[in-house]
Amino acid sequence: MKVGIIGSGGREHAICLALNDIRKIEEIYCFPGNAGTAKISKNIVLNLEDFDELKDFILLNKIDLIIVGPEKPLVDGIVDFLEGHNIKVFGPNKIASQLEGSKIFTKNLCKKYNIPTAKFGIFENVDSSIQFIKKTKYPIVIKADGLASGKGVYICDKISEAKNAINEIFAGKFGKAKNLLIEEFLKGEEMSYFIISDGKTLKKFGTAQDHKRVSEGDTGKNTGGMGAYSPSRLFNEALDKKILSRIIEPTIKGLKEIGTIYKGFLYAGLMIVDGEPYLIEYNVRMGDPECQTILPKLNSDLLEIFLSCCDEKLHETDINWYNKKSICVVLCSKGYPDQIKKKILIKDLDNLILGNDEYCFHAGTIIENKQTYAIGGRVLNFVCLSNDFLSARHQIMNSLKSLNWNGGFYRKDIGYKAISE
Ligand code: AMP
Ligand code: GLY
Repeated sequence: MKVGIIGSGGREHAICLALNDIRKIEEIYCFPGNAGTAKISKNIVLNLEDFDELKDFILLNKIDLIIVGPEKPLVDGIVDFLEGHNIKVFGPNKIASQLEGSKIFTKNLCKKYNIPTAKFGIFENVDSSIQFIKKTKYPIVIKADGLASGKGVYICDKISEAKNAINEIFAGKFGKAKNLLIEEFLKGEEMSYFIISDGKTLKKFGTAQDHKRVSEGDTGKNTGGMGAYSPSRLFNEALDKKILSRIIEPTIKGLKEIGTIYKGFLYAGLMIVDGEPYLIEYNVRMGDPECQTILPKLNSDLLEIFLSCCDEKLHETDINWYNKKSICVVLCSKGYPDQIKKKILIKDLDNLILGNDEYCFHAGTIIENKQTYAIGGRVLNFVCLSNDFLSARHQIMNSLKSLNWNGGFYRKDIGYKAISE
């Protein structure tokens, strides 16, 4: 069997590695992959905006299954397109991908099915938005509707910040804006909650807590994610039941009622307020870096899980996990999330010795003349599984110190809330 993975981040390297050990797989292709995937698969550079080019490559090389990592191709309808050419593909279709592609789509679904979420209003122009922010309480949250690579969310403490957000969004900073969302600010603690579904059955796929801010103590600018730990310290059975019955199940029902199903990973970004879950956002994929944190704990055949989803047989497939704690620390290029230097050599990466329960997943890296270079903001993901979070983090710190890459930085406090308990 030949498998293709779309994407180039730590998430895709983690998926690639989990599939790599499975005997039934004769070849893995990554579109375009990174220096890490290059060692265990074939990296293929294509124009991913051109679905025809991708389809031709898949058919020519007889690839049996495609796994889509990031949201953009999903929102653009890659699943519908490839399935239209009889290609097996794991991921949600274009309509279901609106859960991430349009925050307003999701908010309207929440309203219709009584899904707990922050109170909100939809505004169609600068004037009506400004009228509202003049009389509201602060902080408030202002969001662009469509995909914005995690950048279209403004937490505003005062009216001047809110005005700036409204002006930037309507000026087209995140693409042409017909409207925007203004939300109540929810004060609580975030949790990433994952399920996998074949359209008929859904199964849980772990929890994590992501550290999105660049600096220690969760301060500084927002990033794609500086690290994560799994399971989330907030997780318990009672909360799990509430999340499934109040949030996930009504969402799947809502999609059914508009004539579609959900196949793929679904990632609910939740705010837990006094033990009650609120939906902040949906993502129609695995999280990054949550995927790198969660997948090494999987004690089942990932290929079988993907295939059973494509064949609507997830009910026949067991998903088992190692009973371990997992931490991921992201090594970033200096300057991230602002300006970074491109193409910096990562010396000594090949000399890095990792233990049994340790992983180093690549993200923004390329390989040239057998040397690995950093080309992105988030460069490497160090993951360790252990019986407790503290020893997992300790092990990662040792590996990062031994790599001693002077082009990068990382947070030393990932998982601190779970560790100090
Ligand atoms: P999103 O892209 O919707 O996940 O938003 C990015 C981040 O903004 C989230 O991870 C939260 O930290 C924060 N956020 C978004 N919406 C809210 C809200 N209504 N209340 C509090 N924080 C929020
Ligand atoms: N961990 C945040 C995201 O994947 O969007």
